[in-house]
Amino acid sequence: MSQSFLPLCRPAVDEQDIQSVVDVLRSGWITTGPKNAELESKISQHTGASHSVALSSATAGMHLVLLAMGIGPGDEVITPSLTWVSTVNMITLVGAKPVFVDVDADTLMTDAAKIEPLITDKTKLIIPVHYAGAALDLDPIYALGEKYNIPVIEDAAHALGTEYKGQPIGHRGSCLFSTHAIKNVTTAEGGIFTTHDAELADKVRRLKFHGLGVDAFDRETQGRAPQAEVVEPGFKYNMPDICAVLALGQMDRIAEITAKRTELALSYRGKLESIKGVTPLGLASHDHKHCWHLMIVRVDPAVAGLTRDDLIAALKEKGIGAGIHFKACHTQKYYRENYAELFGDINPNLHNTERNSNQICSLPLFPDMTQDDVERVVSAVSEIIG
Ligand SMILES: Cc1ncc(COP(=O)(O)O)c(C=O)c1O
Repeated sequence: MSQSFLPLCRPAVDEQDIQSVVDVLRSGWITTGPKNAELESKISQHTGASHSVALSSATAGMHLVLLAMGIGPGDEVITPSLTWVSTVNMITLVGAKPVFVDVDADTLMTDAAKIEPLITDKTKLIIPVHYAGAALDLDPIYALGEKYNIPVIEDAAHALGTEYKGQPIGHRGSCLFSTHAIKNVTTAEGGIFTTHDAELADKVRRLKFHGLGVDAFDRETQGRAPQAEVVEPGFKYNMPDICAVLALGQMDRIAEITAKRTELALSYRGKLESIKGVTPLGLASHDHKHCWHLMIVRVDPAVAGLTRDDLIAALKEKGIGAGIHFKACHTQKYYRENYAELFGDINPNLHNTERNSNQICSLPLFPDMTQDDVERVVSAVSEIIG
């Protein structure tokens, strides 16, 4: 009998989470409301951030943060090209120029030494990425930001549950977390902006709901007049309560979720050791706790005898899902064909980015997986490689 399909990811949603969504549906208030407030407070508690703002996605958050920081035409924003393209899309859509920093060859992390030579008097923001659930080495990045007086927004889309030097990501600066369907804690779609900067938080909160300064729930419950005025044009980037409530139980179980993912990832790493040409990412040596959002391997065709895309296709034949996190932004059709016209010069040295963009493959990893599932994936990889 053929085995059932093993997906790349399955959300860690339990019966109580499902019931909590049903309760919200029955409550009569299904859009942004008390469950948003609860989620924001849980995220602030977990991260140590002074302010948390729940949003429709991390992408929406990036859009609002760039606008709130006044970033636009003529400005440069340093970020890796090996990331989800949403960041680069948002930088482009506000009229600024993404300046791509190459990643570390082995960990795919953004490091300060590679950022510094790219700084010009047009650089207005640095957006490094906590990759796959590992933490960035934040100290040198923030030191660089201070040296040149350039703010940092941490792309923490993968990093809810990650720690740096004993503190959760979000504890230090301003972060964008994603709660998209495949993230460790999910609201189906969603994002959360955390910061210690009250003014920035207020601005993002205002822009996420039409520029009213208050959302619908505030106007109903906090005694604000329904005639509340638009103080600046804003967007409609709020998170509904039927989504927010889904994450409340997961936040209570975040240590458990991370522990299970860690156990599975370490088991993968041990079992993959004997397979030549399929190598897990390197682990950064700075003090951090990985939340294992993704289990990424690199397929070296010269050693494995097949490409990453061949491996993904062969795994699919065997009923196993796999993914690519990520195809470098500057190699995406639009940026490949228009970068020079849009932004002028192309960053010359993105060697590590380009090699990894062609070789990385994400294997199934989610808390409900079993050790047998890990064994199944590794055996499949081994058989495919031969
Ligand atoms: C590194 C990174 N940044 C940003 C995002 C955007 O998150 P969202 O899907 O919530 O907009 C993602 C989503 O996968 C991501 O992986």
